[in-house]
Amino acid sequence: MRATETTAWHPASWQTKSALQQPVYADPTALEQVVAELSRLPPIVVSWEIEALRERLAAAQRGQAFLLQGGDCAETFAECESDLIAKKLKILLQMSLVLLHGLKKPVIRVGRMAGQYAKPRSADTETRDGITLPSFRGDLVNRPAFTPQARAADPQLLLRGYERAALTLNFVRALVDGGFTDLHHPEYWDLGFIKHAPLKSAYERIVQSIGDALDFFEGISGRAVHEATQVDFYASHEGLHLLYEQAQTRFIPRQNRWYNLSTHMPWVGMRTAKLDGAHVEYFRGIANPIAVKIGPAMDDAWLQGLIGALNPQDQPGRLTLIHRFGVKDIETALPRMIDAVRRTGQSVLWVCDPMHGNTETSTGGLKTRRFENILKEVDLSFRIHAAHGSHLGGVHIELTGDDVTECTGGARGLTDADLQRAYRSTVDPRLNHEQALELAMLIAERSQSRVHVGQG
Ligand code: PEP
Ligand code: CO
Repeated sequence: MRATETTAWHPASWQTKSALQQPVYADPTALEQVVAELSRLPPIVVSWEIEALRERLAAAQRGQAFLLQGGDCAETFAECESDLIAKKLKILLQMSLVLLHGLKKPVIRVGRMAGQYAKPRSADTETRDGITLPSFRGDLVNRPAFTPQARAADPQLLLRGYERAALTLNFVRALVDGGFTDLHHPEYWDLGFIKHAPLKSAYERIVQSIGDALDFFEGISGRAVHEATQVDFYASHEGLHLLYEQAQTRFIPRQNRWYNLSTHMPWVGMRTAKLDGAHVEYFRGIANPIAVKIGPAMDDAWLQGLIGALNPQDQPGRLTLIHRFGVKDIETALPRMIDAVRRTGQSVLWVCDPMHGNTETSTGGLKTRRFENILKEVDLSFRIHAAHGSHLGGVHIELTGDDVTECTGGARGLTDADLQRAYRSTVDPRLNHEQALELAMLIAERSQSRVHVGQG
């Protein structure tokens, strides 16, 4: 019996384990009050949406759908604005349209949004001019200014984060329900920029071709394909701050299970994926579909242990492995991990994050990523999975709907010198709207040539 192998789980059982990356709060009573309040507030998502997403991820696991997960490295409270949220939704919709067209399978859209406010840090403290203060851990925890007041962990920010997440998802839901995501109306998602881009005509051809296909289907079937074309949109964030996640974990009697209702699909970051750590303990007990980031340092036993702990029943759609090796390591690490997973006899959804293994420092000292490396890692992922009898079921991208200059390369050939112009990220460099769309186009294009090679 599996139940005897592990100790009893409850939403706070993680507190008996070592919890990495957690802030230290000066006033435990104030923190307790906030957690109690968060535990009473209504949930941000509901269990039937979560179950619907799990079923769709199960289809991706079988090769019948593709996951597009994307958004900011870190959302900020200041950027909780209608225009910025709509732009992020638009670029994800445009990318999904291009992927749908190229991959010929439904695309599951999951934003890194409505709760992506807490960040892991490589050091707990930061020292400037002989002064040492706690590191900035994201808007959910403290403030970026380098003063003792700003860097003190403030429990009230947990409530502000919950509210911002709810406001963001409320707006996204209203747009989705109002028909904004209807595939009949891709003109709603026009970001303007594409008028000037070399990608314009390629994108318009895809839009036209999907429009023709919808007309054709509706013509022969005599009914609208509304149900098939009205897309869903789901939210995800790194489940890093365990008290925040715990407070929104609720027992759903009808399902007879616990759910994290702060988001549809939380993930465990690479730094907090220790087998005996608090994050794995928390995640094993929630019924949501979950993901784990995996890097080249993870050995086979660790990976296999995660699969056993997080998906003991081998439930389809439950566990996504997001690999983030970087172009330098993927060719050695991925085949080994595919084999390690196969030896468990269990199934996972494989997703490639081509961002976090390809971060470097530009000549001007800014953190950047090269478009060509990002594309190459996605390309290699498709090929390596196919060569090892597995398949890539999705991509995880850091992007923005805005015209920033944070990653180099792409159709406009951004260089290190361009980075100064519109570098806005305070954390990791994101693809701008144009680079993100171009990436989707190249994935779609290359997948067609892969199909032809396979058939030929
Ligand atoms: C992230 O997704 O922003 C992140 C910190 O990733 P990882 O855990 O893979 O380093
Ligand atoms: Co990041």
